Amino acid sequence: MTIRTLDDLDFNGKRVLVRADFNVPLRDGRITDDTRIRSTIPTIQKLVDGGAAVILMSHLGRPKGEVREELRLRPVAAQVGSLLNREVSYAREITGPAARKMVEDLKPGDVGLIENLRFDSREEKNDPALARELAELADYYVSDAFGAAHRAHASTVGVAELLPSAAGLLMEKEVKALSWVLTDADSPFVVILGGAKVSDKIAVIESLMGRAQRLLIGGGMANTFLKAAGNDVGASLVEDDNVDTARDLMQRATSQGVELMIPTDGVVATEFSADTESRVVAVGEFESNEMMLDIGPETIQSFSEALAGAKTIVWNGPMGVFELEQFASGTRAIANVVAESDSYSLIGGGDSVAAVEQMGLASKISHISTGGGASLEFLEGKTLPGVAVLERQDVE
Ligand code: 3PG
Repeated sequence: MTIRTLDDLDFNGKRVLVRADFNVPLRDGRITDDTRIRSTIPTIQKLVDGGAAVILMSHLGRPKGEVREELRLRPVAAQVGSLLNREVSYAREITGPAARKMVEDLKPGDVGLIENLRFDSREEKNDPALARELAELADYYVSDAFGAAHRAHASTVGVAELLPSAAGLLMEKEVKALSWVLTDADSPFVVILGGAKVSDKIAVIESLMGRAQRLLIGGGMANTFLKAAGNDVGASLVEDDNVDTARDLMQRATSQGVELMIPTDGVVATEFSADTESRVVAVGEFESNEMMLDIGPETIQSFSEALAGAKTIVWNGPMGVFELEQFASGTRAIANVVAESDSYSLIGGGDSVAAVEQMGLASKISHISTGGGASLEFLEGKTLPGVAVLERQDVE
């Protein structure tokens, strides 16, 4: 799929409405990680430098159509301002008179932000009336909200159908990186999947099985595969409904010549807490009250060997409960191997991204996706509505 880009619009002197994904973590009104804001700055800067008046919009959290004071976008406006080193106007409304006044007052090169879109219940319904009100604010629409592109909302789809529209630089970069993985990834291609739930990852395993040569399964979801392979996993969390699916995926991998690797040892404990006692045990030898909370050293070794020589690596989901120090070794070890690899590496999903960022390894990763759910759905091979709406009609 080819999408329209900023090069398709002559935005000098125009009002440009930019949908960003400023859904950032907040604690006590302060932004604790501004990665998503920083990622959209190049788009805003390019529009500003090109003489556009920029109207920013985003959702924050899930207020479900209600105004929630703690989810107002004021701190985001301040952070955008400090990153751009210029004043950013902020309206406490989405499309009401104060928002329209703010927009009217913007001159070429100015930047303003309207209020959290999800304060309006029409946003998530992709209500045409809200899409029209948003479209009336501007001449052009630009979407940089890759993280929200799997949502068909008024600000991601409805408004894009009403104005000349294009992808921003972040959206363009994300779509290019993820499309390359699906269509042109160099072999050997190794996929690492972790995280708590198998159910979230079945579709992505099915999609990547035909493309990758190896699938490494860690994290809580590995327990369902271990059980499917006939192991006793003690008190580990297993999704019983998905044991048959996991068995089927393992059989399909074997018949397609794909190596699907699951842990051979784990770090186990009887409690999910920082100061609980833990030990390393081979799979099949867990006590009935023990849960696997990280992959063990033998698994780290075999996964690292499986990654050696890879030309493409995709990683989504941590190998264990890495927010607790004693269950962080697996995720850290894999993060190091991925960072040191000469391969093209792509990481998506909040927790694995957080791990590489905490470890200061982000600059060694080829592409870190700003989308959690969106990057997974893309890798599942789904068409994201917020991307489809930017598709060029004039090329094959
Ligand atoms: C995300 O954080 O993945 C995106 O901002 C989408 O948020 P949502 O899952 O609340 O739609």
